[in-house]
This record gives sequence, structure tokens and C-alpha cells, in this order.
Amino acid sequence: MRILVAGGAGYIGSHTVLSLLEAGHDVVVADDFSNARPAVLDRMRELAGAEVPFVEVDLTDAARTEALVADRRPDAVIHFAGLKAVGESAVQPLRYYRTNLDATFSLLEAMGRHGVERFVFSSSATVYGDHAPVPYVETYAPLAAASPYGRTKVMTEQVLNDHAAATPGLRVALLRYFNPVGAHPSGRMGEDPQGVPNNLMPYVAQVAVGRQQRLAIFGDDYDTPDGTCLRDYIHVVDLAEGHVAALEHLDEQATPVRAFNLGGGRGTSVRELFDAFCAVVGRELPHEVVGRRPGDLPAYWADTTRAADELGWTARRSLDDMVADVWRWQSQNPTGYPA
Ligand code: WQD
Repeated sequence: MRILVAGGAGYIGSHTVLSLLEAGHDVVVADDFSNARPAVLDRMRELAGAEVPFVEVDLTDAARTEALVADRRPDAVIHFAGLKAVGESAVQPLRYYRTNLDATFSLLEAMGRHGVERFVFSSSATVYGDHAPVPYVETYAPLAAASPYGRTKVMTEQVLNDHAAATPGLRVALLRYFNPVGAHPSGRMGEDPQGVPNNLMPYVAQVAVGRQQRLAIFGDDYDTPDGTCLRDYIHVVDLAEGHVAALEHLDEQATPVRAFNLGGGRGTSVRELFDAFCAVVGRELPHEVVGRRPGDLPAYWADTTRAADELGWTARRSLDDMVADVWRWQSQNPTGYPA
């Protein structure tokens, strides 16, 4: 298939582009570089050993998005393009709602005009809200999220359900990511957050190369085995392969719109992840325990039965693989991609 990868220069998008090419698909990458670096395109070309068609476009621009779809005629769209910083979304909610919803509307309208009927959406475990039983299962309702960012994911899932109900032939996979971490095993592609990282793994990686002074562990008094929060970390290459599996299964999907948890199916604590990172670096990294971060849940992970049974996909890479690959990427590219 020819796949339009919206937001394909970002962290998860870029790894998915490589997995798509490895699986024999053609791609067109679209991105506006609002949270990605052009240099990632060179790295993708280097790793793929092939040209990677690219179009610079702001997908909230409906006319330009339509022109892109009309010109490239994809068989499917994978939609990664959006803002994703939870804290920032509380400060700039309108920007989050407008960007994340408008980009989706542009893509869906352009697809409708040009007969594109396959859509894969980057959703998030955050849609399960604060009250879902652990492990999270796809059938849980009602969805709710605790931040404007998370609510853009809930709303987009609702939009996709309504749109598909009114659009015979449309097939949609809602991929609910748990905590994506890791990097390409080559050390040539990885996560490159702008400014101070919000998330645990990139923060620890930046401590290891001296870009941050020390890790603050947000609370060690949770009701968990070591007192720190449990999350379901998933290697970004496993996640990328999950997209290929979901894409290739769209036409046989049990329902026109189907949600899939993409996680590893187990909880790992902040301390376990930190210790694993220190082990791969070979020294104890500076850290201190501080107070809890408001809004953090103590523990959650994915029930991965549906993805295994229906997509034939499970995460294969271990915590050691995740930290080793992040360390390779961060040590070889201490300041991320070249500007
Ligand atoms: C993981 C654990 C922190 C930083 C968020 C969003 C979610 C998704 C991914 C994506 C928690 C602890 C963290 C630090 C720490 N969004 N921590 N010190 O909060 O599970 O998920 O990112 O697009 O929607 O909510 O991930 O990596 O921020 O935190 O102790 O400096 O690490 O308290 O227990 P989180 P995270």
C-alpha cells in the first residue's frame, strides 16, 4: 500500500516509516517540523537505503491537506500529527484543541473527497481516565481524560466513531499507546524533545549526558512494590510494528472502528527503569526523590489480549533493550538531531 504518514518526522512516526518500508509499503511523509527536525529525514533515508518522499505541510490547513491527498492518492493514512505535552495543554488548551482536532478534520475530509478508506490514529492510554480497572481493556467505557491533551484524544476517537458510522467503507484503527520509549537499534534515530523533557526516559537520558543535573523521582510513597509509579513502557520499534500490523488488518477488522492497546502488558516502576538505565551507562546517575507530580496515577498497564489475538502482534523488546537503545542514541547524539 501507499501510506500517507501524517506527522511522520516525529518520534513515533519516523520509526513507523522505517517499519512500513521494511514491510514493503510505500510512504509519503507529511510534517510541519513544529516538533521534529528536518535531519530525521536524512537518517530515515540512510537507514532505509532509499528515498523517502516528503511534503512539508501544516495539516490544520485544509486546502493544502486536500491538495496533498489529491496529488499523492494514498491507500491509507496513519495520523501521528498533533501536540502532545500534557502540562502545556493545560496552559494552552485552545491551541491543543484546535491543532489536534483540525488536523484530523482536514485529513478525514480530504480522504472522503478522494476515496481513501483506511485510517490509523495515534490514541493514548490516557483515554481510560482515572477510574478504569487495571489492566486497561479496550471495551472499558466511558472514556475520560484528565488533561486537555488527553481530551483531544477522547474527542478524536468520538469524531472517528461518528464519522465512520456515517461513512460506509471507512475502516479506522484507534491505537492506544502506553508509554513509548526506546530508539532505533542503530543509534541513528530516537526521541529528541525540544526544551526540558516532560517524560521519564528522555529526562534520564539527558541526565546521563549532562544536559540535566539530576532526575527528580516524583514520589516513592505510592502503594506499589517499591513505592514509585508503575507504567507500561513499550519500545518504539515494537510500537511501530504494531502500526504495520493494525494497518494490514484494517480490511478484516471485526468492527469498522476498532481500538487496540499497544503496550507490553506489564508494569515497570520508575526505580526499575532508572536502575536499568544506570546499569547500561555503568554508573549511578544523580537523582533525588521529591514530592508526587499532580495528576499521576499510581499504576497502570495494558491488557494486550486483543492486539495479540486479532493483530497477531505483541511487544517483543525488553526493558534492557529499551534502555540500551536509548543510551546508544543519546550518547551518539547528545544534543539530538543536528539543527
Ligand atoms: C512516567 C513516570 C512519573 C518524569 C505521559 C502522559 C501520557 C503519554 C505519555 C503522550 C511517572 C515519573 C517522570 C520525571 C519522574 N502522553 N517521572 N520524574 O505521565 O505516564 O504519561 O506521557 O503523548 O498521556 O500522561 O509518562 O514519562 O511523564 O512519567 O519520576 O522527571 O515517571 O511520575 O510515574 P506518564 P512520564
